[in-house]
Amino acid sequence: MHFQSYLKIISMNDIRKKVDFLVIGSGVAGLCFALKAANYGKVCIVTKAKMDDTSTKYAQGGVAAVMYSPDTYEKHIEDTMIAGDELSDRHIVELTIRESTERIMELVEWGVDFDKTKSGKFALAKEGGHSEFRVLHHKDVTGLEIEQKLIKAAQQNPNIEIMENALAVEIITQHHLGVTVSRRTPDITCYGAYIYNPKTKKVMTILSKITMMATGGIGTVYGNTTNPTVATGDGIAMVYRAKGAVRGMEFVQFHPTSLYNPSERPSFLITEAMRGAGAILKNKDGEEFMRKYDERGSLAPRDIVARAIDNEMKIKGIDHVYLDTTLIPKHEIFTHFPNIYAKCLSIGIDPTKEMIPVVPAAHYSCGGIQVDEWGRSSILHLYASGECASTGLHGANRLASNSLLEALVFSHRACLNAVEAIKSIDFCDEVPDWDTEGTVLNEEMVLITQSMKEVQMIMSSYVGIVRSNLRLQRAFDRLDIIYKETEELYKRSILIPEICELRNVINVGYLIIRHAMERKESRGLHYSLDYPEHTDVSQSKHDML
Ligand code: FAD
Ligand code: SIN
Repeated sequence: MHFQSYLKIISMNDIRKKVDFLVIGSGVAGLCFALKAANYGKVCIVTKAKMDDTSTKYAQGGVAAVMYSPDTYEKHIEDTMIAGDELSDRHIVELTIRESTERIMELVEWGVDFDKTKSGKFALAKEGGHSEFRVLHHKDVTGLEIEQKLIKAAQQNPNIEIMENALAVEIITQHHLGVTVSRRTPDITCYGAYIYNPKTKKVMTILSKITMMATGGIGTVYGNTTNPTVATGDGIAMVYRAKGAVRGMEFVQFHPTSLYNPSERPSFLITEAMRGAGAILKNKDGEEFMRKYDERGSLAPRDIVARAIDNEMKIKGIDHVYLDTTLIPKHEIFTHFPNIYAKCLSIGIDPTKEMIPVVPAAHYSCGGIQVDEWGRSSILHLYASGECASTGLHGANRLASNSLLEALVFSHRACLNAVEAIKSIDFCDEVPDWDTEGTVLNEEMVLITQSMKEVQMIMSSYVGIVRSNLRLQRAFDRLDIIYKETEELYKRSILIPEICELRNVINVGYLIIRHAMERKESRGLHYSLDYPEHTDVSQSKHDML
Protein backbone atom coordinates (compact mmCIF):
# COMPACT_ATOMS: atom_id res chain seq x y z
CA MET A 1 0.00 0.00 0.00
CA HIS A 2 1.50 3.28 -1.06
CA PHE A 3 -0.17 6.13 0.81
CA GLN A 4 0.28 9.55 -0.65
CA SER A 5 -1.36 12.91 -0.62
CA TYR A 6 -2.53 13.72 -4.13
CA LEU A 7 -1.40 16.90 -5.76
CA LYS A 8 -4.49 19.02 -6.33
CA ILE A 9 -3.91 22.53 -7.60
CA ILE A 10 -6.33 25.22 -8.71
CA SER A 11 -6.20 28.88 -9.40
CA MET A 12 -9.21 30.35 -7.54
CA ASN A 13 -8.10 32.64 -4.82
CA ASP A 14 -11.28 33.31 -2.89
CA ILE A 15 -11.11 30.46 -0.44
CA ARG A 16 -7.91 31.27 1.36
CA LYS A 17 -7.20 32.33 4.89
CA LYS A 18 -4.12 33.12 6.98
CA VAL A 19 -3.65 32.52 10.69
CA ASP A 20 -0.66 32.49 12.99
CA PHE A 21 -1.67 29.25 14.70
CA LEU A 22 -3.87 26.63 13.07
CA VAL A 23 -5.17 24.09 15.60
CA ILE A 24 -6.76 20.93 14.24
CA GLY A 25 -9.04 19.41 16.89
CA SER A 26 -11.02 20.74 19.85
CA GLY A 27 -10.30 18.21 22.60
CA VAL A 28 -8.15 18.86 25.62
CA ALA A 29 -4.94 18.95 23.53
CA GLY A 30 -6.17 21.43 20.92
CA LEU A 31 -7.99 23.69 23.36
CA CYS A 32 -5.10 23.95 25.83
CA PHE A 33 -2.70 24.84 23.05
CA ALA A 34 -5.14 27.35 21.55
CA LEU A 35 -5.79 29.10 24.87
CA LYS A 36 -2.09 29.56 25.47
CA ALA A 37 -1.13 30.45 21.88
CA ALA A 38 -3.88 33.09 21.77
CA ASN A 39 -1.69 35.27 23.98
CA TYR A 40 0.77 35.52 21.10
CA GLY A 41 -1.25 35.67 17.89
CA LYS A 42 -4.41 34.80 15.98
CA VAL A 43 -5.60 31.24 16.45
CA CYS A 44 -8.03 29.27 14.29
CA ILE A 45 -9.40 26.01 15.67
CA VAL A 46 -10.89 23.71 13.05
CA THR A 47 -12.85 20.75 14.30
CA LYS A 48 -14.64 18.23 12.13
CA ALA A 49 -17.85 17.88 14.13
CA LYS A 50 -19.38 19.88 16.94
CA MET A 51 -16.88 21.54 19.24
CA ASP A 52 -17.38 19.09 22.09
CA ASP A 53 -17.51 15.96 19.94
CA THR A 54 -14.28 14.57 21.35
CA SER A 55 -12.89 11.65 23.36
CA THR A 56 -12.03 14.20 26.01
CA LYS A 57 -15.70 14.67 26.77
CA TYR A 58 -16.09 10.97 27.56
CA ALA A 59 -13.17 10.64 29.96
CA GLN A 60 -14.51 9.22 33.19
CA GLY A 61 -11.73 8.19 35.57
CA GLY A 62 -9.80 11.46 35.61
CA VAL A 63 -6.32 12.93 35.41
CA ALA A 64 -3.34 11.32 37.11
CA ALA A 65 -1.05 13.78 38.91
CA VAL A 66 1.06 13.95 42.01
CA MET A 67 -0.65 16.22 44.52
CA TYR A 68 0.13 15.14 48.11
CA SER A 69 2.31 12.90 50.23
CA PRO A 70 2.57 9.91 50.54
CA ASP A 71 2.59 10.13 46.73
CA THR A 72 5.81 11.29 45.11
CA TYR A 73 6.94 12.07 41.57
CA GLU A 74 9.28 9.08 41.81
CA LYS A 75 6.38 6.68 42.52
CA HIS A 76 4.30 7.99 39.62
CA ILE A 77 7.35 7.83 37.34
CA GLU A 78 8.02 4.21 38.30
CA ASP A 79 4.36 3.20 37.82
CA THR A 80 4.40 4.77 34.35
CA MET A 81 7.66 3.03 33.46
CA ILE A 82 6.35 -0.35 34.64
CA ALA A 83 3.10 0.02 32.66
CA GLY A 84 5.12 1.01 29.56
CA ASP A 85 6.90 -2.36 29.70
CA GLU A 86 10.42 -0.90 29.25
CA LEU A 87 9.54 1.10 26.14
CA SER A 88 8.69 4.42 27.76
CA ASP A 89 11.27 7.15 27.39
CA ARG A 90 12.40 7.85 30.96
CA HIS A 91 13.32 11.46 30.21
CA ILE A 92 9.83 12.13 28.82
CA VAL A 93 8.18 10.26 31.70
CA GLU A 94 10.11 12.31 34.25
CA LEU A 95 9.37 15.70 32.73
CA THR A 96 5.68 14.84 32.26
CA ILE A 97 5.16 13.67 35.82
CA ARG A 98 7.20 16.49 37.35
CA GLU A 99 5.06 19.06 35.51
CA SER A 100 1.80 17.34 36.49
CA THR A 101 1.00 19.39 39.59
CA GLU A 102 1.46 22.71 37.79
CA ARG A 103 -0.76 21.70 34.87
CA ILE A 104 -3.54 20.59 37.23
CA MET A 105 -3.47 23.93 39.03
CA GLU A 106 -3.76 25.65 35.65
CA LEU A 107 -6.90 23.63 34.87
CA VAL A 108 -8.31 24.75 38.21
CA GLU A 109 -7.58 28.37 37.21
CA TRP A 110 -9.53 27.76 33.99
CA GLY A 111 -12.47 26.80 36.21
CA VAL A 112 -12.25 22.99 36.26
CA ASP A 113 -13.90 21.73 39.41
CA PHE A 114 -12.22 18.58 40.72
CA ASP A 115 -13.95 16.73 43.57
CA LYS A 116 -12.67 17.53 47.02
CA THR A 117 -12.79 15.79 50.40
CA LYS A 118 -14.49 17.35 53.42
CA SER A 119 -11.13 18.79 54.50
CA GLY A 120 -10.86 20.68 51.22
CA LYS A 121 -8.13 18.56 49.65
CA PHE A 122 -8.55 17.06 46.19
CA ALA A 123 -10.27 13.66 46.40
CA LEU A 124 -7.93 11.21 44.72
CA ALA A 125 -8.89 7.87 43.18
CA LYS A 126 -6.81 4.82 42.31
CA GLU A 127 -6.76 2.93 39.03
CA GLY A 128 -4.97 -0.12 37.63
CA GLY A 129 -1.17 0.02 37.79
CA HIS A 130 -1.08 3.00 40.18
CA SER A 131 0.67 2.40 43.50
CA GLU A 132 -1.01 5.45 45.09
CA PHE A 133 -4.32 7.33 45.04
CA ARG A 134 -3.58 10.10 42.53
CA VAL A 135 -6.40 10.40 40.02
CA LEU A 136 -8.20 13.75 40.18
CA HIS A 137 -11.78 13.53 39.01
CA HIS A 138 -15.13 15.22 38.75
CA LYS A 139 -17.52 12.42 39.74
CA ASP A 140 -17.40 9.98 36.78
CA VAL A 141 -17.63 12.76 34.17
CA THR A 142 -14.18 14.34 34.48
CA GLY A 143 -13.66 14.79 30.74
CA LEU A 144 -16.98 16.55 30.30
CA GLU A 145 -16.09 18.99 33.06
CA ILE A 146 -12.70 19.73 31.48
CA GLU A 147 -14.06 20.00 27.93
CA GLN A 148 -16.87 22.37 28.93
CA LYS A 149 -14.61 24.70 30.90
CA LEU A 150 -11.99 24.85 28.15
CA ILE A 151 -14.60 25.45 25.42
CA LYS A 152 -16.05 28.29 27.46
CA ALA A 153 -12.62 29.89 27.85
CA ALA A 154 -11.92 29.48 24.11
CA GLN A 155 -15.27 30.95 23.09
CA GLN A 156 -14.62 34.01 25.24
CA ASN A 157 -11.16 34.60 23.80
CA PRO A 158 -11.17 37.29 21.07
CA ASN A 159 -8.00 35.87 19.52
CA ILE A 160 -9.56 32.45 18.89
CA GLU A 161 -11.76 31.70 15.88
CA ILE A 162 -13.59 28.38 15.84
CA MET A 163 -14.74 26.52 12.73
CA GLU A 164 -17.06 23.59 13.47
CA ASN A 165 -17.80 20.73 11.04
CA ALA A 166 -14.60 21.66 9.23
CA LEU A 167 -12.52 18.61 8.45
CA ALA A 168 -8.79 18.85 7.79
CA VAL A 169 -8.14 16.89 4.61
CA GLU A 170 -4.35 17.14 4.24
CA ILE A 171 -1.54 19.18 5.71
CA ILE A 172 0.22 21.35 3.15
CA THR A 173 3.92 20.79 2.46
CA GLN A 174 6.43 21.32 -0.38
CA HIS A 175 4.66 18.42 -2.09
CA HIS A 176 1.83 20.81 -2.90
CA LEU A 177 4.33 23.20 -4.48
CA GLY A 178 5.29 20.44 -6.89
CA VAL A 179 8.43 19.32 -5.05
CA THR A 180 8.98 15.56 -4.74
CA VAL A 181 8.92 14.64 -1.06
CA SER A 182 10.00 11.27 0.35
CA ARG A 183 10.52 10.00 3.88
CA ARG A 184 14.20 10.85 3.46
CA THR A 185 13.58 14.47 2.41
CA PRO A 186 15.15 16.77 5.02
CA ASP A 187 13.17 19.76 6.24
CA ILE A 188 9.71 18.78 5.08
CA THR A 189 7.77 21.89 6.11
CA CYS A 190 4.12 22.40 6.99
CA TYR A 191 2.52 25.57 5.55
CA GLY A 192 -1.00 24.96 6.88
CA ALA A 193 -3.79 22.60 5.86
CA TYR A 194 -6.55 22.02 3.35
CA ILE A 195 -9.83 22.19 5.20
CA TYR A 196 -13.26 21.05 4.06
CA ASN A 197 -15.57 24.01 4.51
CA PRO A 198 -19.08 22.73 5.34
CA LYS A 199 -20.73 26.00 4.29
CA THR A 200 -19.41 26.03 0.73
CA LYS A 201 -18.86 22.26 0.53
CA LYS A 202 -15.46 23.14 -0.90
CA VAL A 203 -11.93 22.67 0.33
CA MET A 204 -10.32 25.87 1.57
CA THR A 205 -6.66 26.66 2.07
CA ILE A 206 -5.64 27.78 5.53
CA LEU A 207 -2.08 29.04 5.59
CA SER A 208 -0.50 29.06 9.02
CA LYS A 209 2.87 29.76 10.52
CA ILE A 210 2.42 27.03 13.11
CA THR A 211 0.08 24.05 12.88
CA MET A 212 -0.94 21.97 15.89
CA MET A 213 -2.28 18.50 15.17
CA ALA A 214 -4.65 17.49 17.95
CA THR A 215 -7.00 15.08 16.21
CA GLY A 216 -7.24 12.45 18.96
CA GLY A 217 -7.52 8.69 18.67
CA ILE A 218 -8.18 5.84 16.29
CA GLY A 219 -10.90 3.72 17.96
CA THR A 220 -13.18 3.80 14.91
CA VAL A 221 -10.71 1.49 13.15
CA TYR A 222 -12.21 -1.29 15.31
CA GLY A 223 -15.74 -2.66 15.54
CA ASN A 224 -16.08 -2.29 19.29
CA THR A 225 -14.68 0.91 20.76
CA THR A 226 -15.23 3.37 23.57
CA ASN A 227 -14.23 6.22 21.24
CA PRO A 228 -16.68 8.60 19.57
CA THR A 229 -17.05 8.27 15.79
CA VAL A 230 -14.73 11.24 15.20
CA ALA A 231 -11.80 9.04 16.28
CA THR A 232 -10.70 7.99 12.80
CA GLY A 233 -6.96 8.69 13.20
CA ASP A 234 -7.04 11.56 10.70
CA GLY A 235 -4.02 13.41 12.05
CA ILE A 236 -1.85 10.30 12.09
CA ALA A 237 -2.89 9.42 8.54
CA MET A 238 -2.34 12.98 7.26
CA VAL A 239 1.15 13.13 8.76
CA TYR A 240 2.02 9.68 7.43
CA ARG A 241 0.89 10.66 3.93
CA ALA A 242 2.96 13.85 4.22
CA LYS A 243 5.96 11.54 4.92
CA GLY A 244 6.22 12.47 8.60
CA ALA A 245 7.34 9.99 11.29
CA VAL A 246 4.71 7.82 12.96
CA ARG A 247 5.62 5.11 15.47
CA GLY A 248 4.29 2.57 17.95
CA MET A 249 0.98 1.95 16.21
CA GLU A 250 0.94 -1.72 17.25
CA PHE A 251 0.22 -0.59 20.81
CA VAL A 252 -3.55 -0.26 20.79
CA GLN A 253 -5.02 -0.27 24.27
CA PHE A 254 -8.20 -2.25 24.79
CA HIS A 255 -10.11 -1.12 27.85
CA PRO A 256 -11.07 -4.21 29.81
CA THR A 257 -14.49 -3.03 30.90
CA SER A 258 -16.87 -1.48 28.41
CA LEU A 259 -20.55 -2.16 29.00
CA TYR A 260 -21.70 -5.24 27.09
CA ASN A 261 -24.58 -3.80 25.10
CA PRO A 262 -24.05 -5.04 21.53
CA SER A 263 -26.36 -2.57 19.80
CA GLU A 264 -24.54 0.48 21.17
CA ARG A 265 -21.71 2.34 19.43
CA PRO A 266 -19.52 3.77 20.86
CA SER A 267 -19.43 1.33 23.75
CA PHE A 268 -20.19 2.88 27.10
CA LEU A 269 -17.19 2.80 29.42
CA ILE A 270 -17.32 1.35 32.92
CA THR A 271 -14.45 3.24 34.49
CA GLU A 272 -11.48 1.48 36.01
CA ALA A 273 -12.05 3.69 39.04
CA MET A 274 -14.87 1.27 39.94
CA ARG A 275 -12.28 -1.45 40.32
CA GLY A 276 -10.21 1.06 42.30
CA ALA A 277 -13.23 1.47 44.57
CA GLY A 278 -13.55 -2.30 45.15
CA ALA A 279 -15.40 -3.82 42.16
CA ILE A 280 -14.07 -7.21 41.05
CA LEU A 281 -14.13 -9.03 37.73
CA LYS A 282 -15.96 -12.36 37.81
CA ASN A 283 -17.18 -14.95 35.38
CA LYS A 284 -20.82 -15.92 35.11
CA ASP A 285 -20.42 -18.47 37.92
CA GLY A 286 -19.27 -15.69 40.21
CA GLU A 287 -15.63 -16.85 40.25
CA GLU A 288 -12.95 -14.18 40.56
CA PHE A 289 -10.71 -15.24 37.68
CA MET A 290 -8.11 -12.45 37.58
CA ARG A 291 -5.92 -13.95 40.36
CA LYS A 292 -5.16 -16.86 37.99
CA TYR A 293 -3.48 -14.36 35.69
CA ASP A 294 -1.88 -11.76 37.96
CA GLU A 295 -1.44 -11.32 41.68
CA ARG A 296 -2.75 -7.75 41.41
CA GLY A 297 -6.12 -9.26 40.45
CA SER A 298 -8.71 -6.92 38.92
CA LEU A 299 -6.38 -3.95 39.32
CA ALA A 300 -3.52 -5.34 37.24
CA PRO A 301 -2.46 -3.10 34.31
CA ARG A 302 -4.95 -2.95 31.45
CA ASP A 303 -3.08 -5.07 28.94
CA ILE A 304 -3.02 -7.98 31.38
CA VAL A 305 -6.68 -7.59 32.40
CA ALA A 306 -7.94 -7.23 28.81
CA ARG A 307 -5.97 -10.30 27.69
CA ALA A 308 -7.23 -12.31 30.67
CA ILE A 309 -10.84 -11.42 29.86
CA ASP A 310 -10.27 -12.24 26.19
CA ASN A 311 -8.92 -15.63 27.23
CA GLU A 312 -11.79 -16.34 29.65
CA MET A 313 -14.28 -15.48 26.93
CA LYS A 314 -12.54 -17.76 24.43
CA ILE A 315 -12.10 -20.78 26.71
CA LYS A 316 -15.65 -20.54 28.01
CA GLY A 317 -17.21 -19.56 24.68
CA ILE A 318 -18.93 -16.52 26.20
CA ASP A 319 -19.55 -12.97 24.94
CA HIS A 320 -18.69 -11.09 28.11
CA VAL A 321 -17.66 -11.36 31.76
CA TYR A 322 -19.01 -9.43 34.74
CA LEU A 323 -17.90 -6.62 36.99
CA ASP A 324 -19.20 -7.15 40.50
CA THR A 325 -19.99 -3.60 41.59
CA THR A 326 -22.18 -4.72 44.50
CA LEU A 327 -18.94 -4.80 46.51
CA ILE A 328 -18.78 -0.98 46.38
CA PRO A 329 -20.76 0.72 49.17
CA LYS A 330 -24.05 2.02 47.73
CA HIS A 331 -23.48 5.63 48.76
CA GLU A 332 -20.17 5.59 46.91
CA ILE A 333 -21.88 4.43 43.71
CA PHE A 334 -24.43 7.23 44.03
CA THR A 335 -21.88 9.96 44.75
CA HIS A 336 -18.84 8.89 42.66
CA PHE A 337 -20.42 7.04 39.76
CA PRO A 338 -23.80 8.69 39.12
CA ASN A 339 -23.38 8.63 35.35
CA ILE A 340 -22.61 4.91 35.24
CA TYR A 341 -25.40 4.17 37.71
CA ALA A 342 -27.94 6.04 35.55
CA LYS A 343 -26.70 4.39 32.36
CA CYS A 344 -26.93 0.88 33.82
CA LEU A 345 -30.40 1.55 35.20
CA SER A 346 -31.48 2.75 31.76
CA ILE A 347 -30.80 -0.73 30.36
CA GLY A 348 -32.29 -2.56 33.32
CA ILE A 349 -29.21 -3.26 35.44
CA ASP A 350 -28.92 -1.97 39.01
CA PRO A 351 -25.17 -1.94 39.79
CA THR A 352 -25.83 -1.76 43.53
CA LYS A 353 -27.60 -5.13 43.31
CA GLU A 354 -26.33 -6.90 40.19
CA MET A 355 -23.09 -7.49 38.34
CA ILE A 356 -22.50 -5.40 35.18
CA PRO A 357 -21.78 -7.38 31.96
CA VAL A 358 -18.50 -6.08 30.50
CA VAL A 359 -16.31 -6.73 27.49
CA PRO A 360 -12.98 -5.24 26.30
CA ALA A 361 -13.16 -2.49 23.65
CA ALA A 362 -10.57 -0.57 21.63
CA HIS A 363 -9.87 2.47 23.72
CA TYR A 364 -6.58 4.27 23.19
CA SER A 365 -3.70 4.52 20.74
CA CYS A 366 -0.32 4.63 22.50
CA GLY A 367 1.44 5.20 19.19
CA GLY A 368 1.03 8.10 16.82
CA ILE A 369 2.87 11.07 15.34
CA GLN A 370 6.40 11.02 16.68
CA VAL A 371 7.18 14.20 18.62
CA ASP A 372 10.05 15.42 20.73
CA GLU A 373 9.94 16.90 24.23
CA TRP A 374 8.53 20.14 22.81
CA GLY A 375 5.76 18.45 20.86
CA ARG A 376 7.58 18.99 17.54
CA SER A 377 6.87 16.42 14.83
CA SER A 378 9.43 15.42 12.20
CA ILE A 379 7.79 18.00 9.89
CA LEU A 380 8.92 21.59 10.45
CA HIS A 381 6.35 23.97 12.01
CA LEU A 382 4.02 21.05 12.71
CA TYR A 383 3.41 20.10 16.33
CA ALA A 384 1.24 17.32 17.70
CA SER A 385 -0.29 16.77 21.11
CA GLY A 386 -2.82 14.49 22.80
CA GLU A 387 -3.77 11.05 21.62
CA CYS A 388 -2.58 11.49 18.03
CA ALA A 389 0.97 12.11 19.28
CA SER A 390 3.60 9.64 20.41
CA THR A 391 5.71 11.44 22.97
CA GLY A 392 7.40 8.36 24.45
CA LEU A 393 5.40 8.60 27.69
CA HIS A 394 3.31 5.46 27.28
CA GLY A 395 5.80 3.08 25.71
CA ALA A 396 4.10 -0.26 25.08
CA ASN A 397 1.14 0.42 27.38
CA ARG A 398 -0.43 3.54 28.86
CA LEU A 399 -0.97 3.86 32.58
CA ALA A 400 -4.61 4.73 33.28
CA SER A 401 -5.43 8.45 33.36
CA ASN A 402 -2.01 9.46 32.05
CA SER A 403 -3.39 10.61 28.68
CA LEU A 404 -5.23 13.75 29.74
CA LEU A 405 -2.09 14.64 31.68
CA GLU A 406 0.11 14.04 28.63
CA ALA A 407 -2.07 16.33 26.52
CA LEU A 408 -1.87 19.10 29.13
CA VAL A 409 1.89 18.86 29.48
CA PHE A 410 2.70 18.63 25.76
CA SER A 411 0.29 21.32 24.61
CA HIS A 412 1.94 23.59 27.16
CA ARG A 413 5.46 22.67 26.06
CA ALA A 414 4.53 22.94 22.37
CA CYS A 415 3.24 26.44 22.96
CA LEU A 416 6.40 27.51 24.78
CA ASN A 417 8.42 26.35 21.79
CA ALA A 418 6.06 27.57 19.06
CA VAL A 419 5.84 31.15 20.29
CA GLU A 420 9.60 31.46 19.93
CA ALA A 421 9.73 29.64 16.60
CA ILE A 422 6.96 31.73 15.03
CA LYS A 423 9.10 34.88 15.20
CA SER A 424 11.15 33.65 12.23
CA ILE A 425 8.37 31.99 10.18
CA ASP A 426 6.59 33.59 7.20
CA PHE A 427 3.46 32.47 5.39
CA CYS A 428 4.05 30.52 2.19
CA ASP A 429 1.96 32.45 -0.31
CA GLU A 430 2.85 30.17 -3.23
CA VAL A 431 0.66 27.38 -1.92
CA PRO A 432 -1.99 26.52 -4.52
CA ASP A 433 -5.63 25.92 -3.70
CA TRP A 434 -7.32 22.53 -3.86
CA ASP A 435 -7.96 21.05 -7.27
CA THR A 436 -11.37 19.60 -8.01
CA GLU A 437 -10.83 19.11 -11.73
CA GLY A 438 -12.03 15.80 -13.13
CA THR A 439 -13.95 14.80 -10.02
CA VAL A 440 -17.63 13.95 -9.94
CA LEU A 441 -20.22 13.52 -7.26
CA ASN A 442 -20.00 10.03 -5.81
CA GLU A 443 -23.51 8.66 -5.66
CA GLU A 444 -22.42 5.33 -4.23
CA MET A 445 -22.33 6.19 -0.51
CA VAL A 446 -22.81 2.51 0.17
CA LEU A 447 -19.27 1.84 -1.10
CA ILE A 448 -17.97 4.10 1.62
CA THR A 449 -20.18 3.02 4.52
CA GLN A 450 -19.77 -0.70 3.82
CA SER A 451 -16.02 -0.41 3.31
CA MET A 452 -15.78 1.24 6.72
CA LYS A 453 -17.59 -1.71 8.28
CA GLU A 454 -15.37 -4.16 6.43
CA VAL A 455 -12.24 -2.46 7.76
CA GLN A 456 -13.61 -2.57 11.30
CA MET A 457 -14.44 -6.24 10.91
CA ILE A 458 -10.96 -7.08 9.59
CA MET A 459 -9.21 -5.18 12.35
CA SER A 460 -11.37 -6.63 15.12
CA SER A 461 -11.09 -10.19 13.84
CA TYR A 462 -7.37 -10.32 13.11
CA VAL A 463 -5.59 -7.37 14.76
CA GLY A 464 -7.22 -7.30 18.20
CA ILE A 465 -5.91 -8.23 21.64
CA VAL A 466 -4.19 -11.45 20.51
CA ARG A 467 -2.36 -11.53 17.16
CA SER A 468 -0.36 -13.99 15.06
CA ASN A 469 1.62 -13.84 11.83
CA LEU A 470 -1.17 -15.51 9.91
CA ARG A 471 -3.87 -13.23 11.28
CA LEU A 472 -1.82 -10.12 10.48
CA GLN A 473 -1.09 -11.31 6.95
CA ARG A 474 -4.75 -12.09 6.37
CA ALA A 475 -5.72 -8.63 7.64
CA PHE A 476 -3.10 -7.01 5.41
CA ASP A 477 -4.28 -8.82 2.28
CA ARG A 478 -7.92 -7.99 2.85
CA LEU A 479 -7.20 -4.38 3.73
CA ASP A 480 -5.12 -4.02 0.57
CA ILE A 481 -8.17 -4.77 -1.60
CA ILE A 482 -10.26 -2.13 0.16
CA TYR A 483 -7.35 0.30 -0.01
CA LYS A 484 -7.05 0.00 -3.79
CA GLU A 485 -10.78 0.33 -4.37
CA THR A 486 -10.99 3.36 -2.08
CA GLU A 487 -8.05 5.19 -3.65
CA GLU A 488 -9.69 4.81 -7.07
CA LEU A 489 -12.96 6.12 -5.72
CA TYR A 490 -11.22 9.02 -3.97
CA LYS A 491 -9.37 10.17 -7.10
CA ARG A 492 -12.52 10.54 -9.12
CA SER A 493 -14.96 11.75 -6.40
CA ILE A 494 -15.82 15.24 -5.32
CA LEU A 495 -14.44 15.42 -1.83
CA ILE A 496 -16.77 14.61 1.05
CA PRO A 497 -15.72 14.08 4.70
CA GLU A 498 -16.84 10.42 4.69
CA ILE A 499 -14.35 9.36 2.04
CA CYS A 500 -11.55 11.22 3.78
CA GLU A 501 -12.32 9.39 7.00
CA LEU A 502 -12.45 6.04 5.23
CA ARG A 503 -9.03 6.66 3.69
CA ASN A 504 -7.67 7.63 7.09
CA VAL A 505 -9.08 4.55 8.79
CA ILE A 506 -7.54 2.33 6.10
CA ASN A 507 -4.23 4.17 6.48
CA VAL A 508 -4.24 3.75 10.26
CA GLY A 509 -5.27 0.08 9.98
CA TYR A 510 -2.35 -0.44 7.64
CA LEU A 511 0.08 1.20 10.10
CA ILE A 512 -1.17 -0.91 13.02
CA ILE A 513 -0.76 -4.10 10.98
CA ARG A 514 2.64 -3.16 9.61
CA HIS A 515 4.08 -2.12 12.97
CA ALA A 516 2.61 -5.27 14.53
CA MET A 517 4.27 -7.39 11.83
CA GLU A 518 7.59 -5.70 12.48
CA ARG A 519 7.53 -6.39 16.21
CA LYS A 520 8.84 -9.91 16.60
CA GLU A 521 8.01 -10.25 20.29
CA SER A 522 5.14 -9.78 22.70
CA ARG A 523 5.34 -6.60 24.69
CA GLY A 524 2.82 -4.48 26.54
CA LEU A 525 -0.32 -4.20 24.47
CA HIS A 526 1.07 -6.17 21.54
CA TYR A 527 0.68 -9.91 22.07
CA SER A 528 1.63 -12.40 19.33
CA LEU A 529 1.05 -16.15 19.52
CA ASP A 530 4.14 -16.59 17.34
CA TYR A 531 6.42 -14.56 19.59
CA PRO A 532 5.04 -14.95 23.13
CA GLU A 533 8.27 -13.77 24.81
CA HIS A 534 9.91 -10.39 25.33
CA THR A 535 13.12 -9.77 23.47
CA ASP A 536 15.95 -7.90 25.12
CA VAL A 537 14.99 -4.24 24.67
CA SER A 538 18.58 -3.16 24.21
CA GLN A 539 18.78 -5.48 21.18
CA SER A 540 15.49 -4.43 19.64
CA LYS A 541 15.68 -2.20 16.61
CA HIS A 542 12.00 -1.38 17.05
CA ASP A 543 12.19 0.18 20.47
CA MET A 544 10.59 3.58 20.97
CA LEU A 545 13.22 5.27 23.10
P1 FAD B 1 -9.97 14.37 21.41
O1 FAD B 1 -10.47 14.81 22.71
O2 FAD B 1 -10.52 13.10 20.87
O3 FAD B 1 -10.23 15.51 20.35
C1 FAD B 1 -9.92 15.29 18.99
C2 FAD B 1 -10.52 16.41 18.19
O4 FAD B 1 -10.02 16.38 16.86
C3 FAD B 1 -12.03 16.32 18.05
O5 FAD B 1 -12.52 17.63 18.19
C4 FAD B 1 -12.24 15.83 16.62
O6 FAD B 1 -13.46 16.21 16.05
C5 FAD B 1 -11.10 16.56 15.94
N1 FAD B 1 -10.68 16.00 14.67
C6 FAD B 1 -10.31 14.73 14.39
N2 FAD B 1 -9.97 14.63 13.09
C7 FAD B 1 -10.14 15.86 12.54
C8 FAD B 1 -9.97 16.39 11.26
N3 FAD B 1 -9.57 15.65 10.21
N4 FAD B 1 -10.24 17.69 11.05
C9 FAD B 1 -10.69 18.48 12.05
N5 FAD B 1 -10.88 18.03 13.31
C10 FAD B 1 -10.59 16.73 13.55
N6 FAD B 1 -7.84 9.48 29.54
C11 FAD B 1 -7.49 9.83 30.80
O7 FAD B 1 -6.38 10.33 31.02
N7 FAD B 1 -8.36 9.65 31.82
C12 FAD B 1 -9.59 9.12 31.65
O8 FAD B 1 -10.35 9.00 32.59
C13 FAD B 1 -9.97 8.71 30.35
N8 FAD B 1 -11.17 8.15 30.13
C14 FAD B 1 -11.56 7.89 28.84
C15 FAD B 1 -12.84 7.42 28.61
C16 FAD B 1 -13.28 7.22 27.32
C17 FAD B 1 -14.67 6.70 27.06
C18 FAD B 1 -12.41 7.51 26.23
C19 FAD B 1 -12.88 7.32 24.82
C20 FAD B 1 -11.13 7.96 26.47
C21 FAD B 1 -10.69 8.14 27.78
N9 FAD B 1 -9.41 8.61 28.03
C22 FAD B 1 -9.05 8.94 29.31
C23 FAD B 1 -8.51 8.97 26.94
C24 FAD B 1 -8.60 10.48 26.74
O9 FAD B 1 -9.92 10.91 26.92
C25 FAD B 1 -8.15 10.86 25.35
O10 FAD B 1 -6.93 10.26 25.05
C26 FAD B 1 -7.98 12.38 25.27
O11 FAD B 1 -9.15 13.01 25.69
C27 FAD B 1 -7.64 12.75 23.86
O12 FAD B 1 -7.67 14.15 23.78
P2 FAD B 1 -7.28 14.82 22.40
O13 FAD B 1 -7.44 16.28 22.58
O14 FAD B 1 -6.01 14.29 21.93
O15 FAD B 1 -8.40 14.24 21.39
C1 SIN C 1 -11.24 4.84 32.90
O1 SIN C 1 -11.89 5.67 33.51
O2 SIN C 1 -11.19 3.64 33.18
C2 SIN C 1 -10.47 5.29 31.73
C3 SIN C 1 -9.24 5.90 32.18
C4 SIN C 1 -8.27 6.04 31.07
O3 SIN C 1 -8.52 5.61 29.95
O4 SIN C 1 -7.21 6.59 31.34
